[in-house]
Amino acid sequence: MKYFIHTYGCQMNIHDSEKIAGVLESLGYTATSARDSADIVVFNTCCIRETAEQKIYGHIGELKKIKRNKPDMIVVVCGCMSQQDGALDKIKESYPFVDIILGTSNLNMLRDAVVAAQQKKRLYNVDFINYCEEDFYQARTSFPNAWVNINYGCNNFCTYCIVPYVRGRERSRPLKNILNEVKSLLEEGYKEITLLGQNVNSYGHDLQNGETFALLLNEIGQLNYKFRLRFMTSHPKDLSKEVIDVVAKYPNICNNIHLPVQSGSTEILRRMNRRYTRENYLDLIKMIRAKIPDAGITTDIMVGFPGETEQDFLDTLDLVRQAKYSSAFCFIYSRRKGTPAYSMENQITYAVKRDRITRLLACQNEVTKEISQTMIGQRYEVLVEGPNTHYVNTMCGRTESGRLVNFKCDESMIGQFVTVEIELAKSATLWGKIILGD
Ligand code: 5AD
Ligand code: SF4
Repeated sequence: MKYFIHTYGCQMNIHDSEKIAGVLESLGYTATSARDSADIVVFNTCCIRETAEQKIYGHIGELKKIKRNKPDMIVVVCGCMSQQDGALDKIKESYPFVDIILGTSNLNMLRDAVVAAQQKKRLYNVDFINYCEEDFYQARTSFPNAWVNINYGCNNFCTYCIVPYVRGRERSRPLKNILNEVKSLLEEGYKEITLLGQNVNSYGHDLQNGETFALLLNEIGQLNYKFRLRFMTSHPKDLSKEVIDVVAKYPNICNNIHLPVQSGSTEILRRMNRRYTRENYLDLIKMIRAKIPDAGITTDIMVGFPGETEQDFLDTLDLVRQAKYSSAFCFIYSRRKGTPAYSMENQITYAVKRDRITRLLACQNEVTKEISQTMIGQRYEVLVEGPNTHYVNTMCGRTESGRLVNFKCDESMIGQFVTVEIELAKSATLWGKIILGD
């Protein structure tokens, strides 16, 4: 029996898919890359932007014909999209061949649901059950990296964002459970741990024993293994001085901070309910650079939020130049039903959004290129992460600051730390060669 999982969206979903795979493997299924001949197909969905959602509905629709010829195939839809208001009815009506619909916080029902589906019984349930996800067997797929959840959900309600509605309120895992998971992963040989949360900086707010994110980093930083610790995502309003100090203190904790700014205009930030100003944000960047001089700072930026003027957008471009991000994920604002920004006045036309995203990408490209130029000829420690599938015998990995580097070496090196000298910079990607005997 074979399973195939379509994963859409963020790292949180990638990791949820590892849990889904774990459940399916415990039921005797094995992975296949041939979706249409799989016995069970899972859509682990995302709804952060409309484009993602439309694509997913298209992909689910493709299975209608396939399932007609293969009636025993089990089709599962889970994740953020199914958790949206009205989505359950829409999927049931338009895609009646779907056997199981689950949400974001009841994956613990998957096992029983699959067993029932094998007997042709359907299960649709998107209730929020704030269950504790401690006992999931996880079929990990990203060696040498391992994802570790630290908190779930979000309390911030940025006015454009659907996440708080589909992922629920913040829930932190107990510190000792996280620490035990990290230790056993390091024992198993994982070389990079990435802590995951919608807002890692608010880790512990809902716990009783004074746990904080800085404390958690401090505990993990002290573990005596050769490994890298990364984390995402940090909300600028909650990134504390203590966290920056701990990152600066421990060599195991990467000098790489993902700090979504969203906009460079204080007025737009206010209407986004981000709760910081352009000045607060730039001060934070200054503090990070003062304490961690070689930090790689990355960000998320959105263009075309309702009411964004040309001047607001120019402020964003100016901030991008000042912040000197090593890279940025740039998005066109997408109207999400149920969020406050959906009904704000002065929605921006698609033509203007397109124009702004093109200019933003060009601007960030320039910044990335400038940083890349300074890296040529320098040596960096790189963790060999996996093959670059476009080139023979070429692997890729990242510097501690998070920059992707390609270099020649064979697959047996995956999971090892090597020293790479940068030789060439092509826009965002760096090319280098391994320096032996270092
Ligand atoms: N439209 C466009 N981008 C969005 N993001 C979140 N909601 C939206 C939306 N409605 C972006 C933000 C966030 C990233 C994960 O996705 O930049 O940081
Ligand atoms: Fe969405 Fe804002 Fe929460 Fe991030 S912090 S998940 S952008 S509401």
